[in-house]
Amino acid sequence: MSGSQTSETAATGAPEDGLFITLEGGDGSGKSTQAALLEEWLTGQGRTVVRTREPGGTDAGVEIREIVLHHRGDISPRAEALLYAADRAHHVETVVRPALARGDVVLQDRYLDSSVAYQGAGRVLDADEIRKLSLWAAQGLLPDLTILLDLDETVARARLDTSRTRYDRLEAEKADFHARVRSAYLQLASAEPQRFLVVDAARPADEIATEIQAELGRRIAPTR
Ligand code: TYD
Repeated sequence: MSGSQTSETAATGAPEDGLFITLEGGDGSGKSTQAALLEEWLTGQGRTVVRTREPGGTDAGVEIREIVLHHRGDISPRAEALLYAADRAHHVETVVRPALARGDVVLQDRYLDSSVAYQGAGRVLDADEIRKLSLWAAQGLLPDLTILLDLDETVARARLDTSRTRYDRLEAEKADFHARVRSAYLQLASAEPQRFLVVDAARPADEIATEIQAELGRRIAPTR
């Protein structure tokens, strides 16, 4: 049994046998690199992996992603939260849940913890309301494991500076925004230690990958 349901919505959940793994962290924390390494490892373990992301894991989501990341004018914080929630609702319903029902591993770059950290702490909306909104959008689906790549925001920014020619709307936010995001992530992880694996993302990518694989092997038997 995987892709756990929260108690508030468990009654509506379909049976799911796959494994739902999400990667979280600030911009520049190295999520994409770790997702690629983990996908390779899981595939080597004989698992079918659906690698996806939010925002933008569906055709409609690609359009929402364009608005939420690249719209030139203002977007109010609540509208931003709803755009991420709309992307999530459609993605969970059409991609994530079907994959879990097939027994696949869903390896996802960002999920509802991003909304709590960025819209809740970053935009200073009520974190509890944002979590409820996300859970409603996702029909209560929580990941089996969330890997938090924790990195000091100034180090992350320096990494981004070497790889970006332009910043999206969220990346362009100031250092204090990103500091709030980081500390919100750490709070989320300490509130749910069973679900979260916090890794120090300042280390070399292969070291991080080895730690994630070892932990995954301990927490969730990857071969079936
Ligand atoms: P991401 O795809 O990780 O950016 P990139 O591909 O450019 O590295 O995420 C896009 C941005 O969206 C990122 O700054 C975090 C933000 N975000 C939120 O603010 N709330 C959310 O719910 C999600 C999923 C992402």
